[in-house]
Amino acid sequence: MRDPSLKRSATLFRAFMREQTDPDHAYGLLARDAARQVEKYLPLRDKVVVDIGGGSGHFTEEFRRRGAHGYLFEPDPQELGARGTAPTGAVLADGYLLPLADGVADVCFSSNVLEHVADPQTFLSEMVRVTRPGGLIYVSFTNWLSPWGGHETAPWHYLGAGRARARYRRRTGRSAKHTVGENLFPIHIGPTLRHVRGRDDVTVVCARSRYWPFLAEAVTRIPGLREFATWNLLLILRRS
Ligand SMILES: C[S@@+](CC[C@H](N)C(=O)[O-])C[C@H]1O[C@@H](n2cnc3c(N)ncnc32)[C@H](O)[C@@H]1O
Repeated sequence: MRDPSLKRSATLFRAFMREQTDPDHAYGLLARDAARQVEKYLPLRDKVVVDIGGGSGHFTEEFRRRGAHGYLFEPDPQELGARGTAPTGAVLADGYLLPLADGVADVCFSSNVLEHVADPQTFLSEMVRVTRPGGLIYVSFTNWLSPWGGHETAPWHYLGAGRARARYRRRTGRSAKHTVGENLFPIHIGPTLRHVRGRDDVTVVCARSRYWPFLAEAVTRIPGLREFATWNLLLILRRS
């Protein structure tokens, strides 16, 4: 599927709507899509790819299917075992402090993790540290002002995290999975772009909306609007 294109976005959106009932389909599709995005810049065969915060391993499995040496690092045993068994060789580890030597990875990959860490810059620095010069860093996240920024409480997070959480509880009878300040942190597009552009250890290869069918790069260039319209920022960086 062409990326970006209406067909691709519609297919991803339909899969996402069924994420709760058919997670394997939704995450399998997203993993194939992300792997294709990486391969636009670097063929994966025989490459070392580390997936940080990779959950139950859909992405790692896709990288392996494409001939890469895929390694999964995930700090939450529940996420890791969400499908029964974790992928072979998965490591219980925190992205802030990876049990890896400098420059071992051809690709350091992280999908939808940055908004779940309190200190995204330190998290990014650790990703950069383990990537070899010339290697790629793939990082995507849902920013706070995105219509999906509040995750399961969205779009009510626009009225405040506390209100959105209370509303979720009233409506469902359950606590929301995410609590702002504990496992979900407001992160914004503008400061993140300024941060990565200001670093001297990476160059920005691609900064775009991950899911938009058109104007995927253009939308991230407009201050203010980009915070609401990007939905999910995809950054592909090259280690200098
Ligand atoms: C929304 S899930 C994303 C899972 C998968 N990468 C995906 O795109 O479907 C967020 C993941 O980030 C992980 N995570 C949270 N804090 C982390 C940290 N400090 N280091 C590494 N992973 C972390 C969580 O355990 C969880 O698996």
